[in-house]
Amino acid sequence: MTDQPKSKNIVWHEGCVSNIMREALLKQKGVVLWFTGLSGSGKSTLACALEEELYKKDHACYRLDGDNVRHGLNSDLGFSPEDRTENIRRIGDVAKLFADAGIITMTSFISPYKADRDLVRELMPDARFVEVYAKCSLEEAEKRDPKGLYKKARAGEIKEFTGIDAPYEEPDKPEIVIETDKMEVKEGVEVLMKYLDDGGYLRG
Ligand code: ADX
Repeated sequence: MTDQPKSKNIVWHEGCVSNIMREALLKQKGVVLWFTGLSGSGKSTLACALEEELYKKDHACYRLDGDNVRHGLNSDLGFSPEDRTENIRRIGDVAKLFADAGIITMTSFISPYKADRDLVRELMPDARFVEVYAKCSLEEAEKRDPKGLYKKARAGEIKEFTGIDAPYEEPDKPEIVIETDKMEVKEGVEVLMKYLDDGGYLRG
């Protein structure tokens, strides 16, 4: 992020191929679609469906998913407020690299804290960060409970579970809101594709 490196002997090295050159090659613009919302709100489902649609239309895209990234890069992190902040900080940096590479990047992390999401937004150049709120009531997410985790959280078997005994701070001004308890996945994908098309992200 904007943190100073720990070592003082680190010098930034500019390459010869720019972001603009990469985007011209790929015929698209690098962007991060930052999905946020409760566990079970449909972030990953939407991101997967959008990725498929983009792929079918020949776009270079990539998806970073909370559960998956926590198996590798962030396997040392749990769900305390500090660990969640570090989770989002690392992913923000990784997502920025993907966007700089010209890739249409989707991240699906609960990212419950507004300040953490805002830090990632500040990290990205203008209009390269698109906050997508997968809006769904706790009741509905809990009813879906695809991984059986709400049940465990209610039984006290999981602590600090978002929506139960840990907070979720709704976005104030997300670029896109998809009400996943009112909309089919297909409709959500249409909204997202239109946003990308209208915003010129699907052209070099
Ligand atoms: S975040 O809060 O740090 O952004 P992240 O998106 O990486 O969370 O991981 C959330 C996923 O981890 C959930 O979808 C769920 O499957 C699982 N999980 C396990 N424990 C918890 C917990 N205490 N709170 C929320 N999600 C949890």
